[in-house]
Amino acid sequence: MRHIVQFNDDWLFLPQDVDSNTSDSTFESVVLPHTNRIFPYHNFGNDEYQFISTYRKHFRLPEPIRGRRLFIDFEGAMIASEVFLNGRKLGEYDGGFTPFSFDLTDYLHLDGDNLLTVRLDSTERSDIPPYGNVVDYLTFGGIYRDVYLRYIEPCHIDNVFVRTTHVLGQHPKVQYDVKLVNLPGTQLTLQTRLIDSSGAVLVEQEHSITSAPADSLLLDDMQLQDLPSIHLWTLNEPHLYQLNLQLWQNGRLIDEQTERFGFREAHFDKDGNFYLNGQPLKLRGLNRHQTYPYIGAAAPARLQRKDAEIVKYELGCNIVRTSHYPQSKHFLRRCDEIGLLVFEEIPGWQHIGDRDWQGIALRDVETMILRDRNHPSIILWGVRINESQDHTALYKATNELAHKLDPTRQTGGVRYFMDSEFLEDVFTFNDFSNGVQEPKYTPHLITEFMGHMFPTKTWDSEDRLVEHAIRHARVQDLARQNPRVSGAIGWCMADYNTHPEFGGGDRICYHGVLDIFRLPKFAAFLYESQIDPNQRIVMRPATAYGFGDRNNYGAESLQDFYVFSNCDEIEAFVGDEKMGHYKPDRENFPGLAHPPFRIGTGQLWFTSNLRVQDAHLIGYRNGQAVIEDRLAANKLPHTLILQADDDELVADGADMTRVVFKILDKFQHVLPYSVSVVYLEVDGPADLIGDNPFPLVGGQAAVYLKARKTPGKVTITARVNRLATASTTVNITPRM
Ligand code: GAL
Repeated sequence: MRHIVQFNDDWLFLPQDVDSNTSDSTFESVVLPHTNRIFPYHNFGNDEYQFISTYRKHFRLPEPIRGRRLFIDFEGAMIASEVFLNGRKLGEYDGGFTPFSFDLTDYLHLDGDNLLTVRLDSTERSDIPPYGNVVDYLTFGGIYRDVYLRYIEPCHIDNVFVRTTHVLGQHPKVQYDVKLVNLPGTQLTLQTRLIDSSGAVLVEQEHSITSAPADSLLLDDMQLQDLPSIHLWTLNEPHLYQLNLQLWQNGRLIDEQTERFGFREAHFDKDGNFYLNGQPLKLRGLNRHQTYPYIGAAAPARLQRKDAEIVKYELGCNIVRTSHYPQSKHFLRRCDEIGLLVFEEIPGWQHIGDRDWQGIALRDVETMILRDRNHPSIILWGVRINESQDHTALYKATNELAHKLDPTRQTGGVRYFMDSEFLEDVFTFNDFSNGVQEPKYTPHLITEFMGHMFPTKTWDSEDRLVEHAIRHARVQDLARQNPRVSGAIGWCMADYNTHPEFGGGDRICYHGVLDIFRLPKFAAFLYESQIDPNQRIVMRPATAYGFGDRNNYGAESLQDFYVFSNCDEIEAFVGDEKMGHYKPDRENFPGLAHPPFRIGTGQLWFTSNLRVQDAHLIGYRNGQAVIEDRLAANKLPHTLILQADDDELVADGADMTRVVFKILDKFQHVLPYSVSVVYLEVDGPADLIGDNPFPLVGGQAAVYLKARKTPGKVTITARVNRLATASTTVNITPRM
């Protein structure tokens, strides 16, 4: 029977290329996911993660082999791995974003100690995508995703592809392909069960296979019909089901695999629209890189899930692009669970290498699709190297392969020039015109805009932060107005560390609507304000309400400010004086569901007889006051807050949560010019990852709290001059 054991614990790590003579005592003990180096959040060089390191793991078999094979599965290691067991080389894998496996069985010590060694090359190897030319992001180094041991019978289920058809009609079906390997030549039985989210078995089916010995057998187009009524996977109610497969040989269960999927129909149409379950849906999204401050790409499951939640719930997006590579399965699983659509693409950035390099790109297409084709959230495969030039042979091949492996999904391929050869199903286009160019083909999806056109830091002047938000608003507005454009995915979710050819003076690309800590700029408020008000009421003033912040105060530019809100009316007061009722600016943003408000147009705003007073905003929906907010005139620091995203972590030595600290005014708004030094302290079985003490960035910043392997209560304390100390607790719970 199949048995999977997580294999993240008790690795040894040395940031050097050493042979087996080097003693274990020189190594550091680590838990995966692991970054080959911890960094400050900015101002470090990409040469600093580029080295060969050695990972070792001593282990005894967690359970006896009993005639099975034992594989090791790496979800991802950056960027080229050579793997050895007990001194024998098992193989190599070139590529940092896709999973790989090796069969350990033949070299195992069944009763004794085994030594697994990974020689990991984290240099920017020009023979492996994305490298070969410049790249606008960092890849970092390390075995940065999970590793598993997998016991498996010689004859087993190799791969399952589940898809749903007729989901909008009376008789939805589940269709599935099952690939079996190493057929023994005896009778096998495959039992299939459809299970709903409560665990109830809805349909069961048995299939006999009278097989001749063979390397593999593909049972394709198997079907489950006559289903009871099913719930669709939608963005608001993303119902998930499971297909459970059991493989029996002579009354013995030899393998079992369960795939999670959803009933949904998704396609981009020639009419220009994207349709989800038969309904047109304008796509509004952001690009996400998988990198984080301090820890590179080595973020554990909890942080991966959190990013999906931020894109969906904090930024109100309905789609995310995994720019520019396949991302963590934890991220994708969370997208399935919360109803967030995904455009996933192969690794690469502008450059196409030689034939071998292209061979890796083709392999990446295959690995990505085989890994991820059961995710209901994924609606489009990106099968071009992001922003590369046309390459007919390569892109015919990637498209053909994608369609063969997954006939249910369309392909895209991201380019930045309109006269590019259209070999895909969807013309996915990076539009840096600061507007929306008229599509040449349909379907047409904008896959990037903004970014380098208008980099913006949380501590930039208010004018710039507002303009950044308004530019995002403009493109989203135009995309919504144009029936031939199926949506727009902005660049990008969060600021990221990058190469010296890109980014600001501190090697950060300030292209995010969030900062590198995933904390909002005003542009984030624009996205947030597009959330359906039935889900959540949003009202975000885009101002620091600073009397002298803008040019020529008092006379012109201080007469108004923007508020991003999904209310239909906002009433504003300064002190006791009523300024008026305001409506969303539909004239300038007719396409947006919830255009920004300009509060105070034409009136002297910040002052009443030149005395600055607090402002009071009241948001209305259908004539009812539903939200209010106040802006402080005095601009003084009032509270230091410290918040952990989670109040529990698991004592596995890898689990992490973000810990945010901010200096707020008396109405709980961040004071963006606060650069005070915050001193952090941790008491209990966890470690802080991040800069400490920390000079605030735009009044806010974050570090990570990482659980050790012992349970207990952790108290984190933050101190800053002149404000009350803030603290919070996180419980580290025993590992199951
Ligand atoms: C695009 C590229 C992205 C990012 C962006 C910045 O050309 O695809 O990776 O660099 O520019 O605006």
